[in-house]
Amino acid sequence: MEQSTIAPQDESALVAAFEARIAAGESIEPKDWMPERYRKQLVRMMSQHAHSEVVGMLPEGNWITRAPSLRRKMSLIAKVQDEAGHGLYIYCGTETLGVDRQELIEQLVDGRAKYSSIFNYPTLSWADMGVIGWLVDGAAIVNQTILAKTSYGPYARAMVRICKEENFHKRQGYEICATLARGTPAQREMLQDAVNRFWWPALMMFGPSDTDSPNSAELLKWRVKRKTNDELRQRFVNLTVPQAIAIGITLPDPDLAFNEATGNWEFGEIDWTEFFQVIGGEGPCNRERLAARREAHDEGAWVREAAAAHAAKQQRSGTQAA
Ligand SMILES: [Fe+2]
Ligand SMILES: [Fe+2]
Repeated sequence: MEQSTIAPQDESALVAAFEARIAAGESIEPKDWMPERYRKQLVRMMSQHAHSEVVGMLPEGNWITRAPSLRRKMSLIAKVQDEAGHGLYIYCGTETLGVDRQELIEQLVDGRAKYSSIFNYPTLSWADMGVIGWLVDGAAIVNQTILAKTSYGPYARAMVRICKEENFHKRQGYEICATLARGTPAQREMLQDAVNRFWWPALMMFGPSDTDSPNSAELLKWRVKRKTNDELRQRFVNLTVPQAIAIGITLPDPDLAFNEATGNWEFGEIDWTEFFQVIGGEGPCNRERLAARREAHDEGAWVREAAAAHAAKQQRSGTQAA
């Protein structure tokens, strides 16, 4: 980019040029000048996103050994493994903003970092694997399809690939749901129970209402976000209600009604008290999830030490050769 025409000390001119690039639909790349707030907001968003991918492996990893068939087990393993890949991908993206991955992971394991509230709910039955794929990955797709057009290049490109995999996750989940819906009364009941537990937390995944979202305005201005939380939530509801109807499952909201004029499925009040409780560390599984991450981190220490020792050795022999 052409920064040479702008006096480097003139911050407001730099900001104006930066905002003009964003307004023109250009993407911002790691070596481009960016306001410190933009960098900070992206580090916050991307690291929360990476943490969510990695913590999101836990509720489903819990069911790999109990999958009802080899086919189900293979796709569940593949899905959980994909989520690890998404985490790594986004951590790498975050490093292009000059932060150290180690620091981000420490923030996660010592409880300073946030991750998606949905993963603090327990997975009680096999139907939860279907419902998580259908609703949770479904909500993630709505979010991430828009993020694929975010103004920060490395994040946008990561989302393009991730969305392709998320589609597979959603399909495998919806297929489980459709199979259970056609099954025995006990299977239908198990599915309905899972939907009842995950529907509202899935709606909460889009974050607080626009009127209550402290970061939204700035993120929209810089096109980090392209749609508001409420717009994305509405889009998810509109996409999902017909899918529930198709398999004959009831969504647990008596206020759900189609509005002919707007073309939207209107829905009831979200329990924001519950959302803020879960975000604040008081969800049903917050402690369990963090303990599992901490244990995995500690148990992986020898791998990191070995990799660092190997890199140091390579560097030493490289130096000697030079
Ligand atoms: Fe993912
Ligand atoms: Fe996924």
